[in-house]
Amino acid sequence: PPYTVGVLIGSLATNSINRSLANALIRVAPFEFEFVEIPIGNLPLYSYDYDANYPPEGQALKDAIAGVDSVLFVTPEYNRSIPGPLKNAIDWASRPWGTNSFARKPSAVIGTSPGAIGTAVAQQNLRSVLSFCDSPQMNFPEGYIQYKDGLFTAEGDITDAGTEQFLREFMQSYFQFVTRVLTVIPR
Ligand code: FNR
Repeated sequence: PPYTVGVLIGSLATNSINRSLANALIRVAPFEFEFVEIPIGNLPLYSYDYDANYPPEGQALKDAIAGVDSVLFVTPEYNRSIPGPLKNAIDWASRPWGTNSFARKPSAVIGTSPGAIGTAVAQQNLRSVLSFCDSPQMNFPEGYIQYKDGLFTAEGDITDAGTEQFLREFMQSYFQFVTRVLTVIPR
């Protein structure tokens, strides 16, 4: 059976360049991968007041993560960290205590920004959070994609051959990583 990947996009913006990047990654991914987006934009702001009675949006997020073999974070950098909505979603998924959805769930991180360091600081922040959440992470390759106008279309067509090759190799490495992790931690 194919491996399923839940894609978490860190931006809520209509014309998000990270959503475009996610589409580009799906286009060049190995055929054994099957993708589903896990939406984060409908979640209330998390508080542990909800723990006793999780609302449907929070439960749906946890169910969606439980239903995939791996998660792929495609995120912008906002003020040198991850956007608030993404942190909010991670907090939702990590609770109630003892039911952390990311525990032993393999993950990878990538992102794009017009800035020269291509979301590197946000990704480093996200890696700290995922470490605490006990998610085995792909350490290499890293994906710091500096966005230039037209680098890829909203549908995920990549206009630059070097970028296309890099993203293809990134997804091949991700597939090998997930395969390795799932031999140790079966589905
Ligand atoms: C940004 N941007 C940005 N870029 C960056 O490289 N480092 C940063 O710290 C920030 N900080 C930041 C804060 C806020 C509140 C906004 C709205 C933007 C610019 C950002 O990379 C750009 O808007 C991208 O288009 C964001 O990606 P999405 O949302 O289009 O996927």
